[in-house]
Amino acid sequence: MEKYELTEQQLDKLEQMTAAYAARLGHVPTAFVQTFGCQMNARDSEKLAGILREAGFAEGADETADVVVINTCTVRENANERLYGHLGHLNSMKREHPGKLIVLCGCMMQEPDEVERIRRTYSFVDVVFGTHNLYRFPELLARRLGGEKRVFEVWDAPREMVEELPKKREVPYKSGVNISFGCDNFCTYCIVPYVRGRERSRRPEDILEEVRRLAADGVIEIMLLGQNVNSYGKGLEEPVTFAQLLEQVAAVPGIERVRFMTSHPKDLSDELIAAMARQPKVCRPLHLPMQSGSSRILKAMNRRYTKESYLALTERIRAAIPDIHLTTDIIVGFPGETEEDFEETLDVVRRVRFDSAFTFIYSPRTGTPAASMPDQVPPEVVKDRFARLLSLVQSIGGEESLRELGQTMPALVEEADETHPGRVTGRLGTNVMVHFDGDPSLIGRIVNVKLEEKRGFYYLGTMTE
Ligand code: SAH
Ligand code: SF4
Ligand code: F3S
Repeated sequence: MEKYELTEQQLDKLEQMTAAYAARLGHVPTAFVQTFGCQMNARDSEKLAGILREAGFAEGADETADVVVINTCTVRENANERLYGHLGHLNSMKREHPGKLIVLCGCMMQEPDEVERIRRTYSFVDVVFGTHNLYRFPELLARRLGGEKRVFEVWDAPREMVEELPKKREVPYKSGVNISFGCDNFCTYCIVPYVRGRERSRRPEDILEEVRRLAADGVIEIMLLGQNVNSYGKGLEEPVTFAQLLEQVAAVPGIERVRFMTSHPKDLSDELIAAMARQPKVCRPLHLPMQSGSSRILKAMNRRYTKESYLALTERIRAAIPDIHLTTDIIVGFPGETEEDFEETLDVVRRVRFDSAFTFIYSPRTGTPAASMPDQVPPEVVKDRFARLLSLVQSIGGEESLRELGQTMPALVEEADETHPGRVTGRLGTNVMVHFDGDPSLIGRIVNVKLEEKRGFYYLGTMTE
C-alpha cells in the first residue's frame, strides 16, 4: 500500500480558512473533539485534535465550542442511538450560534444507511467523513469553511497507509501507537471488519520511529494498538512477528512500560508468552477476549477456538508469567445461546478468575451474519443472564485485581487526587489505581508504592522512594 504524508500545503490552506473563520466570528475559534468507542478511535481523535491545533484552533472544553467533531463508534446499536440523541441537542445549540460547525467521522460513518439518514434528516451536520479518509480532514474542513454548504466524503476502502499526521496527545507521558489497522477475522456478530476494512500492518521501522520520537518528547508508556495485535506483520515485505515488535519497542531508550490491545486468543503464540515473561517492561495485564465459554457458541461466532483451548491457553500463560492479570470481554445473549451455553461461560469465569471483564449484551448489527441467525434470545432472559454474569465477574475481580496487597510496586503517577489535596493517584502495571501522599510534581513519573490497604477496586499506599 502507498505511503501518504500530509503536505504543508493542505495544512496551509486550512490555516487560511481558519483565519477567515476567526475574522467572521470575532475570536479565535475553538474546537472540541468528542470520542466514542475504543482506543483506536481515541488515537484517531488525537490526530484530529493535532490537525485542528496546527490549523490555528484553540481547544474547546466541551460542545459549546465553535467546531464540534464527533468521532463515532458503531460496535453496538446503543452507540448509534446515543449519537442521534446527542445530535438533537447540538442542533439546538447551533440555532443559538449559527457560526457553529458540526463534524461527524469514525466508524458509524462507514455505514451507508446511517450517512444517508444524516444527509436527509440532520441537515445541520456540516462535514462527514469516515475511517479510511481521516487524513483528508484538513481539506474537507477547509472546503466547508471556504463556503461549501455541506461536505460529505466517505470511502468504502482504505487507499493509502497514512504516516505523519500531527497529533495532540491527551497526556504528555503516555501514548497509543497504531501497529495495524482493520480486521480480517469476521466474528459473526462484529461490524468492525466492515467499518475499519481489511487488516493492514504498519512497517516496523515506521512504528519504531514513532516510538523513538514519542520517547524523545517525554513519553514513557506506550500502548500498541490493533484489533488483533497477534496477527501483526502479515503481508509486510519482511514479515515480523508481534513478539519481535514488542521486544523492539520495549528496547527503545526512555520507554519504561509497554501495553497492547487487543489479543485474539486464536493467534496468541508461545513466542509472545515467552517474550512477555522475559521483558519486565511489558505490563502484566493481558486482555484476552473470550466472548463465550461455550464451544458451540464460539463456533457460531467464528472465533476459531474452543472452551478447552481457551482454558489451556490461559493455563500456559499463567505457568509462564505467574504475575499476569487476565482480563476479558464477554457477550451475553448471542443467537441460540441456551442456559447450558451460558453456564459454560460462568464456568470459564470461575476457572480463569479474571481481574475484570467487560460484559456486553449482544447487539445485532445490520449486515453481520449473526443478525439474521434464528433463535435470537429474548431480552428478559438476556437481562437475567447479564446480571448473574456481572455479579460473578465483580466478586472474582475484586479479589484477583488486588492480590498484590502488601507488596511494593511501581506506579505511574497520573493525576492529583481531587478529593484529597496532598494526595496523588498512580496506575500500577496491572492497571489498578493506588492513591498515596505525594506532590503533583510527580505526575508523569514512575515511583515505588507500598500497597497497604484495599478499598473497593483500588489501593491506598505509601511512596517508598
Ligand atoms: N478486536 C477486539 C474487539 C473489538 S470490539 C477483539 O476481537 O478482541 C470490543 C468488544 O465488543 C468485543 O470484544 C466484543 O465483546 C464486543 N462486541 C463486538 N460486537 C458486539 C455486538 N454486536 N454485540 C455486543 N458486543 C459486541
Ligand atoms: Fe470484531 Fe472479531 Fe475483529 Fe475483534 S477480532 S474486531 S471481535 S471481527
Ligand atoms: Fe467502535 Fe470502531 Fe472501535 S466501531 S469499538 S470505535 S473500531
